[in-house]
Amino acid sequence: MAVGTVLVTGGTGYIGSFTTLALLENGYDVVVVDNLYNSSKVALDRIELICGKRPAFYQVDITDEAGLDEVFAKHPEIDSVIHFAALKAVGESGEIPLEYYRVNVGGSISLLRSMEKHNVTNIVFSSSATVYGDATRVPNMIPIPEHCPIGPTNTYGRTKVMIETVITDHVEAQRRNLQKAGKPHDQWNGALLRYFNPCGAHPSGIMGEDPQGVPYNLLPLLGKVATGEREKLLVFGDDYASRDGTAIRDYIHVLDLASGHLAALNYLREHKPGVKAWNLGSGRGSTVLEMIKAFSKVVGRDLPYEVVERRLGDVLDLTANPALANKELQWKTQLTLEDACADLWRWVQNNPKGYRQDPPAEFVEA
Ligand code: NAD
Ligand code: WQD
Repeated sequence: MAVGTVLVTGGTGYIGSFTTLALLENGYDVVVVDNLYNSSKVALDRIELICGKRPAFYQVDITDEAGLDEVFAKHPEIDSVIHFAALKAVGESGEIPLEYYRVNVGGSISLLRSMEKHNVTNIVFSSSATVYGDATRVPNMIPIPEHCPIGPTNTYGRTKVMIETVITDHVEAQRRNLQKAGKPHDQWNGALLRYFNPCGAHPSGIMGEDPQGVPYNLLPLLGKVATGEREKLLVFGDDYASRDGTAIRDYIHVLDLASGHLAALNYLREHKPGVKAWNLGSGRGSTVLEMIKAFSKVVGRDLPYEVVERRLGDVLDLTANPALANKELQWKTQLTLEDACADLWRWVQNNPKGYRQDPPAEFVEA
């Protein structure tokens, strides 16, 4: 008998696939919905190779409310939703903002409407540290606590703030309306999880990040420099007010991030708090040069880089204060930056073409 059944939107994507794996490993049943815009169904094969279980899968667009209705109707056992499906490229979001608002905000509205129709009342949402924008604009906000004023600096971040607002308004309205009608109301709950910088791969070397387009995040790019696919890493600015002049981020292993979703889901089920936001980060900040050093160490040689101009929209420091999640969710990161680098390197070496190639033989034979 499953602990519960969770609909995971975006469940073939990077963080969604790791969370699906963690849910299956912890006794949940999982139904994945994804339109495969930025992912591949092969992720489901790898999940099955690792844990021996496979989630149900539907290729449905998150903006397709009727399609979502069909999935909920087919799976009346679904009791909660973890919502990852979104467009997430910061630069692109400034070029095609309407598409970002349509998919991210519109898709979340379709999902909430469909959940309401099928009486599914717990939602865990993928928000982002990017909602804080430049936290150094406010005194004493590094490391960043959840009460840091919101101030996104790009369209993608503004879609996340809007979705947080939509979820909050909807859950609060549902609770009020049910209460007025004299019905139980505390079953409606939402967790807004603000991730810092997710990275790393599965220690088996068969599951990792495999975006369909060109990567723009630091660690996947370092992977490409290590394999020789890229000549060098371009370091975006060394004139920040940090210990070595490069920008500071809080890198969190994707396995730790996945377990944070389980902790949040359990919290919603047990404590029925309404809507709450939690930072999911390690509390430890690393500079770009420190990341190059850490990754070079696992690769076993110095990786070439060149310092260039700052990247538009980048901020000095996004380090989490994860105290609230540590205390309330009883969750904290277990894995180190070194683990993330070693796991990423194993993934990159084993799968130079990502999911577009077979897994190593030992997994197929096992
Ligand atoms: P990802 O692109 O790997 O996963 C997103 C998934 O959503 C993909 O599988 C994609 O195919 C799917 N998708 C996109 N549009 C869809 C649509 N219209 N209908 C159905 N499915 C759709 O990205 P990820 O890194 O795993 O991110 C997951 C979530 O976490 C996103 O909401 C993202 O904004 C958020 N997030 C990511 C990061 C990060 O750095 N990776 C940081 C903070 C927050
Ligand atoms: C990390 C650091 C760069 C590439 C983004 C989104 C954020 C969240 C996570 C979704 C920065 C530097 C990078 C390179 C570099 N995603 N860098 N050379 O920008 O912190 O966050 O992903 O929610 O919303 O904005 O991540 O990995 O792109 O950059 O010097 O080629 O590495 O300047 O300091 P970022 P990143």
